[in-house]
Amino acid sequence: MSKVYVFDHPLIQHKLTYIRDKNTGTKEFRELVDEVATLMAFEITREMPLEEIEVETPVTTAKSKVLSGKKLAIVPILRAGIGMVDGVLNLIPAAKVGHIGLYRDPETLKPIEYYAKLPADVEERDFIIVDPMLATGGSAVEAINSLKKRGAKNIKFMCLIAAPEGVEAIQKVHGDVDIYIAALDEKLNDHGYIVPGLGDAGDRLFGTK
Ligand code: PRP
Ligand code: URA
Repeated sequence: MSKVYVFDHPLIQHKLTYIRDKNTGTKEFRELVDEVATLMAFEITREMPLEEIEVETPVTTAKSKVLSGKKLAIVPILRAGIGMVDGVLNLIPAAKVGHIGLYRDPETLKPIEYYAKLPADVEERDFIIVDPMLATGGSAVEAINSLKKRGAKNIKFMCLIAAPEGVEAIQKVHGDVDIYIAALDEKLNDHGYIVPGLGDAGDRLFGTK
């Protein structure tokens, strides 16, 4: 069963409050999402494997650590996931970026894939899917399906706010995918929006309606 990690760092929680606030405008919303994505990337990379190498300092030779292991790819779920990409790249600038385009049919709430482009070496990479919202979980489950279908083996899912229904949906279908969130909210409303949530993440990021 996949694990759920809630990042309760005070800076993440503080910024998330202003992201939720309906009076936060597009510019500030975008900046805050970017900052929280960086902070979450810092937490999510905590377990990255290290290896020891020798380095010549100006004084002597030292044994010191560098990252080892597989390379990373970040995959935003379009559109709203785009808002988290630069924040992650701030910390992991060498990561490749794939894209999965999905939208929720407003009637059925079912995700419909309209785009997928991943790095060529899918099987050699670890993936972090990013999307601000995990609501019914339909989009996340479909994005993970899409990555796995193309050969991805090691996938993490990172979002700002999750509903219990979305967490359950990933755990039910993709027990190997751990979930990293800034907040676990109460429930979904009748329109599939997270309560209390932050509204429509894509519209708030891009100033659309
Ligand atoms: C939002 C959000 C997720 C999805 C979550 O995207 O960014 O991708 O809904 O809902 P789910 O868990 O019920 O699938 P939306 O479909 O509104 O598209 P957008 O990013 O283009 O605004
Ligand atoms: N997508 C959003 O942007 N917000 C929600 O609350 C649910 C899905």
